[in-house]
Amino acid sequence: MDILVIGGGGREHALCWRLAQSASCEKLYCAPGNPGIADVADCHAVSVDDIAGLVALAKKLKPDLVVVGPEAPLVAGLADALRTEGFAVFGPSKAAAQLEGSKAFLKDFFARHNLPTAEYKTFTDADAACAYIDAKGAPIVVKTSGLAAGKGVTVAMSVGEAKQAARDMLSGAAFGDAGKTIVIEEFLEGEEISYFAICSGTEFLPLGSAQDHKRVGDGDTGPNTGGMGAYSPARLMTPAMEKLVNETIIAPTLKGMADEGNPFSGVLFAGLMVTPQGPKLLEYNVRFGDPECQTLMMRLEGDFAAMLMAAAQGKLAEAKAGFSMSVNPSLCVVMAAQGYPGTYKKGTIIRGLEDAAGKGAHVFHAGTKRDADKHIVADGGRVLGITATAPDLKAARTIAYGAVDRILWPEGFCRRDIGWRALSEDKAA
Ligand code: AMP
Ligand code: GLY
Repeated sequence: MDILVIGGGGREHALCWRLAQSASCEKLYCAPGNPGIADVADCHAVSVDDIAGLVALAKKLKPDLVVVGPEAPLVAGLADALRTEGFAVFGPSKAAAQLEGSKAFLKDFFARHNLPTAEYKTFTDADAACAYIDAKGAPIVVKTSGLAAGKGVTVAMSVGEAKQAARDMLSGAAFGDAGKTIVIEEFLEGEEISYFAICSGTEFLPLGSAQDHKRVGDGDTGPNTGGMGAYSPARLMTPAMEKLVNETIIAPTLKGMADEGNPFSGVLFAGLMVTPQGPKLLEYNVRFGDPECQTLMMRLEGDFAAMLMAAAQGKLAEAKAGFSMSVNPSLCVVMAAQGYPGTYKKGTIIRGLEDAAGKGAHVFHAGTKRDADKHIVADGGRVLGITATAPDLKAARTIAYGAVDRILWPEGFCRRDIGWRALSEDKAA
């Protein structure tokens, strides 16, 4: 089959890389793609927020399947627009994408279906929000209801900080309309893990877990980012915990969505906090995590294209036999432009990429482009994802950082401690 992938980040490079190796994938297209993706797919310069342009591109290319990478076009209704034109789509409808697009929808859904999550209340009025914060005390968490590019969450350590965040959000000053409704919730203490399942209605195929590293600095210090690295599977995800998550979180979520008339098709990404009372839901995303996706694609075995097509067609049960996740762990180190997640320079030249790849490592492009002289240059905050798999995590880490060290990019940086939570348990590490 011919497949069109929507997106142009590290996640989409990993998806395209795995799809291109699938026996059932004949021709691969990507919009807009990036220079790394261009090695495995025909790239078309249509941006992910141009819904009409993407539908027009699909009508021109006539793919058998469209795979949507990022959340914004899903929340904007791209999957619906494509399905109306008769395309098979891997990705949820606009209604189902509300799980990620609206925190207020999400929290009310959790409450209706009795799913384990932090206690919360929704507000549109600042005085009422501040009175609630006073009553609850700190630490407390304040979130925009709408999408805010991963920045709409304040984990406030004081009542003053929480009130300031609530006022800034509700006034529209901080996040525009995304912050006109806010959710204030209980602070959960624990370790975060990401959990993924390919879903089609009430059927699902678990892909397992990964752990992201959200802070910019070593030892989890500094500001939050989109993710500076990941490893898979996450250390706390025992088979017993996985069974618990599948039975008490994923299955009831899919049943609830279907019962409410919004069946979920696509990948469900549960952000879980492992608390002393067990795993609790922080959030859902309706797409793969970035950089978690890079680690999952390194472990996935079988015909990935056939699996996504089966999900799109509601025949997931038939695809289960042809799929497994390798027991070998994987690890991804993100290289970012100096200054990220604040301001950073674009256009700096990256050398050594050919030398870095191989020896078990794979370099996924995130924010890169080619300059007029055909050099690969940085074109975003998170720029590369160097990913490796090996029989144990320590070996995967050694391979990934070995590749990082062969990349010649003085204007870039990375964390040097990806995987530390899992590796520090191992005295030999
Ligand atoms: P979210 O977009 O809801 O996942 O929030 C972004 C980040 O804020 C999460 O990855 C957590 O690190 C943190 N966070 C969100 N909600 C809570 C909570 N209730 N308790 C503690 N930390 C939280
Ligand atoms: N790495 C976290 C995310 O993709 O949301």
